[in-house]
Amino acid sequence: MHQLKLIRENDLQARHYDLSCSSEQTIYSAAEQQGFRLPASCLNGICHICRASLISGKVLSGTAQQPLARDPAQAPPQVMLCKTWPLDTCSVSLKNIYGPGELPVKNVKCQVLNVERLKGHVFQVDLQLPAGKQPEFFPGQYLALNLPDKAEASYFSIASAPGQRLINLHIQADPHLLSALEVIGFLQMSMDTQRAVSVALPYGVACLSSMPAQPVILIAAGTGFAQMKSILEYLFEHGFAYPVALYWGVRKAEDMYLHELAESWAAKYANFTFRPIIGELEDGESTDHHEQLSAAVLAEQAVDNARVFVSGSPKLVFSVMDALLAAGMPEQQFFSDVLAYATRT
Ligand code: FES
Repeated sequence: MHQLKLIRENDLQARHYDLSCSSEQTIYSAAEQQGFRLPASCLNGICHICRASLISGKVLSGTAQQPLARDPAQAPPQVMLCKTWPLDTCSVSLKNIYGPGELPVKNVKCQVLNVERLKGHVFQVDLQLPAGKQPEFFPGQYLALNLPDKAEASYFSIASAPGQRLINLHIQADPHLLSALEVIGFLQMSMDTQRAVSVALPYGVACLSSMPAQPVILIAAGTGFAQMKSILEYLFEHGFAYPVALYWGVRKAEDMYLHELAESWAAKYANFTFRPIIGELEDGESTDHHEQLSAAVLAEQAVDNARVFVSGSPKLVFSVMDALLAAGMPEQQFFSDVLAYATRT
């Protein structure tokens, strides 16, 4: 393995990233595999979109794999990273490279194509991104929806996988949730009048910035399912072979708004299991489903070598985290956006 340094050119303060790459792998493919995002198109040395400057070190360059080394007395030679193989420790610099979880936030105008009640008080919203170059996001990230006359944006998990022009959101709008009702009203009005809405994305660190090489456990409460749906659709699409388990907790049966979809995944993918947890007693009185979620996970899963994503209220996230840490889950394997903004109470 060779050590590589990737330097981002368009920072005021130079930013660099370290990664490793074998002689058999192109720098582009090693970077992609390790969760970096680089500009690329043809992946064949033709379009020059992945052009970089070789700052130091030796490589094989181009389709003909010509040896190339930096001569310190000369300007750095240009290489196409999709056709560059390292021969020793190297540094390359290029524009528009982003490390894992570091996609640039972009503001875009989206058309609202559909606002539809799924079940109970949960709505699905379909937004269409503008034509042309789409803002990138990782599976599991969220977006900010800006409402006119509101200082604060409203944040929603993206419920669909990246790579499509259509983005789905799931919004819980119970009669007492006035701000959610206002958002639904605004989106319905925007759809009816064909007025574009302003959205910024992506946000969030509890996401798949690279493909895991281990089992994945997804734990969601309520519309926290949206984040897990994005991750799952991406894993299924890319033929992820390790075991994946989804634990979805809700207070009432009607809140499990895409139960049939999750069941259909379980029927289709042999490596996927789905455990619905409904915290409803027979007389309709709801119970706290947090402990049920942790208990169900610990009864069925080994958590010492799994990547765990949790989405729900801070109370739920911290209670699940404590239970899984006590059972031997390494802390660095636990991902939840709640950890970035909430503190324990
Ligand atoms: S992606 Fe086209 S030259 Fe590398």
